[in-house]
Amino acid sequence: MFSTQKYDRLFLTQAATDSNVQFHFLEPRLEPDTVVLAQGANAICAFVNDRLDSDVLAALKESGIELVALRCAGFNNVDLKAAETLGVRVARVPAYSPSAVAEHAVALIMTLNRKTHRAFNRVREGNFLLDGLMGFDVNGCTVGIVGTGRIGRSFARIMQGFGCEIVAFDPYPDPEVEEMGIEYLPWEGFLNRSDIISLHCPLTPETHAMIDAKAISLMKPGAMLINTSRGAIVDTHAVIEGLKSGRIGSLGLDVYEQEENLFFKDLSEEVIQDDVFQRLLTFPNVLITGHQGFLTRQAMEEIARTTVENLSCLANDEPCLNRLI
Ligand code: NAI
Repeated sequence: MFSTQKYDRLFLTQAATDSNVQFHFLEPRLEPDTVVLAQGANAICAFVNDRLDSDVLAALKESGIELVALRCAGFNNVDLKAAETLGVRVARVPAYSPSAVAEHAVALIMTLNRKTHRAFNRVREGNFLLDGLMGFDVNGCTVGIVGTGRIGRSFARIMQGFGCEIVAFDPYPDPEVEEMGIEYLPWEGFLNRSDIISLHCPLTPETHAMIDAKAISLMKPGAMLINTSRGAIVDTHAVIEGLKSGRIGSLGLDVYEQEENLFFKDLSEEVIQDDVFQRLLTFPNVLITGHQGFLTRQAMEEIARTTVENLSCLANDEPCLNRLI
């Protein structure tokens, strides 16, 4: 198991207790230089920033490994065509807790809006001034959701509870979503109606840099943008320009295009070399978390349970509902 953290060990060890799956936990990320660590295993388990391109998949196959269990929903980091050609089977955890990610998106919105992160520090320092802490009522806002799948819908329900009007953009409209009172709009209309835009679509060639300079120019001035989906859906340079001009009023990110060089590591003693990321951190109206949307107890239990189940099914050649290839 590549890219493991303490919580992976805890939950996956528990989930594997009564199974014939045995995990060997590795801290490094899976990439061409580390693929050799998988030798001797029957299968590998990977996470969001592990690289499963054609070279890595070929190297795995050469070591006799034909099973890949992703312990995440997104699979943009896997070359599925290469896996198919090589005969490597891949499964994922399609849904573990949509609420976990949806609720994290809401946490970003409310922190950015009511500036609780700044208030926390001020009060601890004995500064009870309120200057600079002004927010807005979320009640009555129009919230735009890109991607009305499992997470998008869960997010919509929460925001409806806040008293927001919900609009959506998704090339595959779902009548069930419309029954929730959510209106699908064409891209341009969607962008200029939304006070808050939250991204909940997968990273695909169509969604890559979907939030670019043109999209930003069509947003409502001062709109809030939230991305808990995948970093590359947003063109970070364009977003920085949007923040500088004020077109983007605030930005909440749980994902970042170049996150594999940063996230899930303690870099507090190092000089961070990513100037674009560092520029983002200079804005008072930007809040970044390090891909923690999935990190709830319930989500981890479900990820661990499904991963063990996927591995057992794949290894025993049994039908596996979560199989991609
Ligand atoms: P899902 O498959 O249930 O829903 C995705 C939705 O996006 C579908 O309705 C689909 O029609 C829509 N979509 C596809 N192409 C689109 C496009 N071009 N424009 C707009 N919408 C489009 O997926 P789910 O479970 O809701 O997850 C969404 C994404 O959230 C995942 O792909 C993953 O990238 C991200 N995620 C982030 C996590 C985190 O920890 N921050 C954890 C889990 C998922």
